[in-house]
Amino acid sequence: MRLLITAGPTREHIDPVRFLSNCSTGKMGFAIAEAALAAGHEVELVAGPVALTPPASAHYTPVISARDMLAAVMEYLPTVDAVIMTAAVADWRPAEVAQDKLKKHTMEPVIKLVPNPDILSEIKKVKTNQFIVGFAAETRNALEYAKDKLERKGLDMIVANDVSQPGAGFAVDTNIVSFVTQQGIEHFPLMSKREVGAKIISYIESKLS
Ligand code: PMT
Repeated sequence: MRLLITAGPTREHIDPVRFLSNCSTGKMGFAIAEAALAAGHEVELVAGPVALTPPASAHYTPVISARDMLAAVMEYLPTVDAVIMTAAVADWRPAEVAQDKLKKHTMEPVIKLVPNPDILSEIKKVKTNQFIVGFAAETRNALEYAKDKLERKGLDMIVANDVSQPGAGFAVDTNIVSFVTQQGIEHFPLMSKREVGAKIISYIESKLS
């Protein structure tokens, strides 16, 4: 299989030296990429700004903003069998990006935001037969919100992680996930992100074989 995996945060600039972003480190997406490569698959890895070294045998596309990530995803989508969106894409960006560093005494203490494109919703509009996996990072009612996202974003599976649980979510090497599909929900115990990656890859293999 050829897999498109997104990872990390996006960065939405306010001026050349300031931006809005989030706590994603890319560990979850890179671990899935490693598991996919170990299982003999080809990987397109598209990642926002992270401090990790991509696996040597992945084809790696570093991006900055949500709109950069959308462009890369749309480029690779027709060439892949499945997409796994672990990236924590910023939902909003500043309406204007200053060309020069803003000065404290001249700037308004308010930043006007505009919505970013939703990458999974854009995939839904143009996809053919690719298997699409989203992630849901929640701090409460994780399964309820995950089921809603499964429907709304037209996904084959969503991997829910309650990022308020110790050992789960952002920046750690482990995760606690549930696979939510139209067929039901499967819960997993605390595992390494690499083990979570292997479970996701086996699941996709079982559906596409
Ligand atoms: O990178 P790590 O430090 O290892 O952390 C891993 C993680 C917590 C980031 C990861 O496990 C995770 O949960 N990723 C999804 C984070 C997220 O943005 O969730 P969300 O519930 O806001 O978004 C739902 C889905 O829509 C996600 O698949 C996301 O990639 C996608 N999305 C979101 C916004 C947007 N504009 N476009 C999108 O496609």
